[in-house]
Amino acid sequence: MKAPVVVGITGASGAAIGLRVVEILAGMDFPVELVVSRAGEKTLAEEIGPDALSARNLRPHPIDAVGAAIASGSYPTSGMIVAPCSMRSLASIAYGLADNLLSRAADVHLKERRRLVLVARETPLNLAHLRAMTAVTEMGGIVMPPVPAFYLKPKSVGEIVDQIARRAVDALQIGPPSASAWDGGGLA
Ligand SMILES: Cc1cc2nc3c(=O)[nH]c(=O)nc-3n(C[C@H](O)[C@H](O)[C@H](O)COP(=O)(O)O)c2cc1C
Repeated sequence: MKAPVVVGITGASGAAIGLRVVEILAGMDFPVELVVSRAGEKTLAEEIGPDALSARNLRPHPIDAVGAAIASGSYPTSGMIVAPCSMRSLASIAYGLADNLLSRAADVHLKERRRLVLVARETPLNLAHLRAMTAVTEMGGIVMPPVPAFYLKPKSVGEIVDQIARRAVDALQIGPPSASAWDGGGLA
């Protein structure tokens, strides 16, 4: 039995990326422990639809359930991805606030030295955002903004979402890489 991956969806734009991450992990036979912030529920409803979670049979942990297993370092996991990650959640994680189940689970991944991938989404960035990204990086977390790989010539938003989600899953290093890769394009 594989140890689960914790997936957090917060209130940054790009809820589809989080849903795609969950689908990709399920396709790899990884159990998923899902946590959605209150703002994440709003962006899911706004960007996907009011039944974004229920239509996919997804039942996230309540965001205030700080006693859930994933809040403890004694509970084994295969890593954690927050996609998309808002600047509020980024700051909470960067400064160890552990003020809800999502930021506590991320805090656990950092303290246990497990992989933590934050698909941090905002633009432009202010100094607080950049300092928080630096702090997370210094602690071993991976900050991975959802930037399209234009060199792959994506034909749809769905392809862009898929590529970003696959890169985030690949960053956990829990299976063979599945994101499309630059092949040199005859430029070498
Ligand atoms: C439609 C919508 C889009 C948003 N996009 C972003 C975003 O891209 N990045 C961000 O940091 N916050 C964004 N926000 C604001 C966050 O939702 C807000 O800061 C919230 O407090 C984040 O809380 P959370 O980290 O608990 O999810 C957005 C809000 C809405 C309603």
